[in-house]
Amino acid sequence: MNTTKTETLRWIGEVDGHLELIDQTLLPTEFTEIACKDVQTVWDAIKQLKVRGAPAIGIAAGYGMVVGLQTVSDSASKEEFFSRLKEVSDYLAGSRPTAVNLFWAIERIARTAESNRDKSIAELKSILLTDAIAIHDEDREMCHAIGRFGAELLKDGQGVLTHCNAGGLATAEYGTALSVFFTAQDVGKNLHIFVDETRPLLQGSRLTAWELQHRQIESTLICDNMAAQVMREGKVQAVVTGADRIARNGDSANKIGTYGVACLAKAHNIPFYIAAPTTTFDLTIESGDEIPIEERASEEITNGFNKQTAPDGVNVYNPAFDVTPAELIKAIITEKGIIQPVTVEEIQRVIGYV
Ligand code: MRU
Repeated sequence: MNTTKTETLRWIGEVDGHLELIDQTLLPTEFTEIACKDVQTVWDAIKQLKVRGAPAIGIAAGYGMVVGLQTVSDSASKEEFFSRLKEVSDYLAGSRPTAVNLFWAIERIARTAESNRDKSIAELKSILLTDAIAIHDEDREMCHAIGRFGAELLKDGQGVLTHCNAGGLATAEYGTALSVFFTAQDVGKNLHIFVDETRPLLQGSRLTAWELQHRQIESTLICDNMAAQVMREGKVQAVVTGADRIARNGDSANKIGTYGVACLAKAHNIPFYIAAPTTTFDLTIESGDEIPIEERASEEITNGFNKQTAPDGVNVYNPAFDVTPAELIKAIITEKGIIQPVTVEEIQRVIGYV
């Protein structure tokens, strides 16, 4: 397996170029990159979780807008350009509902286009590519800043549990929760990471365990239902996860199972932290009750990885995310600083109105 290239997403070429991304559904056994030369391929990559993790979905959507607008000729009318822009925006917005970074990136690109309406179509395309690249670059910076703030919260020798994958694969680089661990390692703190395998799609075992191995960070993989026992045995002193959407009051949606982990952390008096960039906050909603929770196909549970593990015709419920209430979150680590306590006022003080 070629593991020398671990950039989740890359733009290849100029304005008529394309997006390349790692197919995360094949990891850890196959390292394959997909060329996304049309917006349908970008949509499919997001929908099928070939690219996943809130920030990476946002970056892919930014580039997806650029790819989608390549079908408009430079000599077309402005009406044609903006009507296609609306079509591409709506299409990409329908790929996944929970991670707010997707909508944030689409809206940002659309706003950039709107504020450059007077430019030629060739100029507009180039401006939008520059903005998509900026979204990508800014995410890289935010991840490193999250790591610097978060590493302060952890002590040398601690055991830390994480759920799903909030690593380099889920972002431009370095990750959010994993950035905290990578940065702690960079400053000489040795941590031992307990990795929830994260049913049903195994982002923990397939992706997080893989990233931690590559970084040579000590880690132990556990099944999701082992977290309580590991905490009871005193092996874990902190929990750090990512998030897909954070409401005004700090309620945070993340991969299904996160809420349960937060309850367990509370029961064992272990601090539960969320690490997320400000692009993951949705200040238009008051609380987690308003976060749309994606429901995915039942086959992910009954026939995961092409192995039937349930009887034909069984009823299945497969929500892909859950919401951890703010009161269970000790702090939210952002690129602008640490939000603690997690309250409306403190969120606004640290991140301002984004
Ligand atoms: O369904 P996924 O794999 O896209 O879910 C990803 C998560 O829940 C991550 O924890 C979250 O997006 C944060 S990634 C920095």
